[in-house]
Amino acid sequence: MRGHESMTDPRTLTIALAKGRLADQTFDLLERMGVDCAEARSPGRQLVLWDRANDIRFVLVKPSDVPTYVAHGVADLGVVGKDTLLEAGLPLYELLDLGFGRCRLCVAGYAEASGGSVSHATFRVATKFPNIARRWWGEKGVPIEIIELHGSVELGPVIGLSDVILDIVETGSTLVANGLTILDEVAGGITARLVCNRVSLKMKRERVLWIADGLAAQLKEKR
Ligand code: PRP
Repeated sequence: MRGHESMTDPRTLTIALAKGRLADQTFDLLERMGVDCAEARSPGRQLVLWDRANDIRFVLVKPSDVPTYVAHGVADLGVVGKDTLLEAGLPLYELLDLGFGRCRLCVAGYAEASGGSVSHATFRVATKFPNIARRWWGEKGVPIEIIELHGSVELGPVIGLSDVILDIVETGSTLVANGLTILDEVAGGITARLVCNRVSLKMKRERVLWIADGLAAQLKEKR
């Protein structure tokens, strides 16, 4: 067992990954380029996982925390959805579009709730993306009340908490199952991105580009 995990070799590359499907698809690509992801694939309760041979450590975190770790430089690289990046608005280098995790950011609700036509004084938006919502309706000059939720956002209009939702739509089946429809598209082409800390790109350029170019080559091979 290691004591202080931050006492690492300055050459160690730290990669922050969003737990779940994005991490699994990233491991598939990394393994094909020779990175050992065995420990990271079965972490148990452990939060820092290693490929000692390649001097890479992985941290598995909540998707919305990936930009924070990379922006603070405690992770050199991160893999996270473009939706989360748009919401975080942090100064990170986007090195690569990984192409998976494809979805859209949409406004959805009951067909009649497209704005202005609601009976309340303010238009209520339930979302995990308050910053994106503020920008989207702000540009339209529509005042909104943001109701921040952290999951099952579709419940908002169904249960009368909000007029619409701003959320990601992948297959659309959650909307259909709850009788909701897409009213507007806020952003298309949402996919997983490889992001890099600005200082790491300068100080660990060779190691960072080994990962970025290696992943790009694997993606090309898959096509
Ligand atoms: C996401 C999103 C939608 C759903 C969309 O939720 O917030 O609820 O997936 O997918 P679909 O269009 O294929 O139905 P997620 O599964 O991440 O769970 P959450 O509701 O707990 O955030």
